[in-house]
Amino acid sequence: MSQERLPPLSNIPAQIACLRDYEPYARVRMRAQDWAYFSAGAADEFTVQDNLASFGRWGLWPAALGEFDQPSTRLTLQGQSMDYPILLAPVAYQCLAHPEGELASVLGAGAMGATSVISMQASHSFEDIAAQAHAPLWAQWYWQTDRAFTLDLLGRLKAAGYAALMLTVDAAVNGLRNQEQRAGFALPEGVDAVNLRGAPRQQAVLGAAGTSPLFGSGLLNSAPTWDDLAWLVQHSPLPVWVKGIMRPRDAQRALDVGVAGMVVSNHGGRTLDGAPASVDVLSQVCQVVGERVPVLMDGGIRRGTDVLKALALGATAVMIGRPYIYGLATAGAAGVAHVLHILRAELEVAMALTGCNTLADISPDVLYRP
Ligand code: FNR
Ligand code: LAC
Repeated sequence: MSQERLPPLSNIPAQIACLRDYEPYARVRMRAQDWAYFSAGAADEFTVQDNLASFGRWGLWPAALGEFDQPSTRLTLQGQSMDYPILLAPVAYQCLAHPEGELASVLGAGAMGATSVISMQASHSFEDIAAQAHAPLWAQWYWQTDRAFTLDLLGRLKAAGYAALMLTVDAAVNGLRNQEQRAGFALPEGVDAVNLRGAPRQQAVLGAAGTSPLFGSGLLNSAPTWDDLAWLVQHSPLPVWVKGIMRPRDAQRALDVGVAGMVVSNHGGRTLDGAPASVDVLSQVCQVVGERVPVLMDGGIRRGTDVLKALALGATAVMIGRPYIYGLATAGAAGVAHVLHILRAELEVAMALTGCNTLADISPDVLYRP
């Protein structure tokens, strides 16, 4: 298979009308194995497909003759005033998509006033990324068994100005991503999880034939527990969110531990194949949480009407993953900014046509199911 890559564009092609239009432009600008890395989900990708299909199962009720008085998509989240309810989800190793990686994506997000959640497996240091940001950043966290390393890195995040910490809890073990394996994905020289340098190694590999492949590997010994989350909430200098809550009972436990917010997410279908679409469990989780903490959702958001549907089902805001990576690969910071611009414009149009003047007007009433 050809590994020839086109360089990123310096202008956005006028043919790009919506987020999905970025995919073919991005694909020819990365190694085939990196395309597999970004686009893949676990196993047969049932959950990847369902994240996308689930939005199509909801319709929207048009509202005639609405009155619009200073319409707005503004909200306050985690003490921050935001122009619109869309954040960039943590995505690892962005230098695979574009030479400047996370530095370009936060530049694009900053130009649009959007908050980015930076992956702990970013390919630039948390500090270098913060130096490029013009909008508040949050940091994503994978549980580290070493408490001294944890406290040190948390201190660095605080010093670098990160506003919140998001512990991802749906990836105790990586899903087995068949597409990625077939493509022979491996990190190239020069791209690695720089923020984890010096961390005691906890990445084991599945055991050899003849042994119990996962259960005999020790890998699960480093997976976090509810007690670990409680420890983190107590010791983190930043408010702690959890990402990857799908069950109402887990939402209740997260509330009991004192999280600042939670994200309904199935990791973009990359961990447990067969997990339901995030949007399908959203309202059940929101029922448990009520107004106590904000609930974000991600997985399959590809258009402004998806954002409207997620908010109608109870989300405070949404995050996008792959779509901004495809913008990044296509045209760097400008591509990321354009992805956010499209999504925001589509959300405003959808709100106008369903009679929603502000985010507070968005309720299940806008949803239609035959
Ligand atoms: C992710 N995601 C992720 N999540 C996380 O908590 N830490 C991480 O480092 C990563 N890395 C990562 C890499 C890649 C290539 C993808 C596609 C995703 C999950 C991400 O934050 C988010 O939950 C999903 O991407 C949302 O789904 P969509 O928008 O991609 O459909
Ligand atoms: C992934 C890990 C990094 O989804 O979260 O690739």
